[in-house]
Amino acid sequence: MEMKYGGEESRQFVTNLGLVTSNGKWGHNIMTAEWAHHISYDPAMVVINVHDYDATADNIIGSKEFGVSLASESQAELIWIAGHASGKKSNKIAALEELGFRFYKAGKIGTYMVEGAVLNLECRLVKYEKIGDHIMFIGEVLEAKANETEGPAIFRSGTGIYKVGERLKHSDGSEREKRVEEALSRHTKANAPA
Ligand SMILES: Cc1cc2nc3c(=O)[nH]c(=O)nc-3n(C[C@H](O)[C@H](O)[C@H](O)COP(=O)(O)O)c2cc1C
Repeated sequence: MEMKYGGEESRQFVTNLGLVTSNGKWGHNIMTAEWAHHISYDPAMVVINVHDYDATADNIIGSKEFGVSLASESQAELIWIAGHASGKKSNKIAALEELGFRFYKAGKIGTYMVEGAVLNLECRLVKYEKIGDHIMFIGEVLEAKANETEGPAIFRSGTGIYKVGERLKHSDGSEREKRVEEALSRHTKANAPA
């Protein structure tokens, strides 16, 4: 079956927004990816999913590397521009610099990285495969720089860009926590590991 972009099923997913930087056939480039996830701690690895017709896909397949800068809550305009123009038609990095956005050169790979992002990851391509209607690129993180001066921008698929909101409580006090522990121990499995 299909879950359409913007449909009520897709809208229930929330993600970070990755600003994926690359260099290759289409020159230095940046694109927005809602599908940018951390998938391994050690070694640190991330996955991004990119349409095969995007300039970014050609660049990564050719260069075997990419950057992921997780956008901060003050970067909504940058997210929008990088996600609506194609690097096949425009030099987005040059246009963004003209508009006042700042980049720096990655230390371990040959791409630009976004200044002011909450996390900048320089990645070596480990594996890629067409999965459904996107290409899944898995990268090993060679360099990571976190910046906690702002929170991350959040994407509610097909709906809009948000900032982190109120923290939800998972317990309403010690009496309830005691009941949770008791309920779990009453239902201990016979083959539970020691
Ligand atoms: C908020 C947002 C999230 C997006 N997420 C993705 C994504 O995860 N994967 C993808 O292939 N395209 C995604 N896009 C679309 C690409 O960013 C867009 O097609 C872009 O123009 C591709 O650039 P390129 O051709 O320079 O690589 C997203 C766009 C926006 C605005």
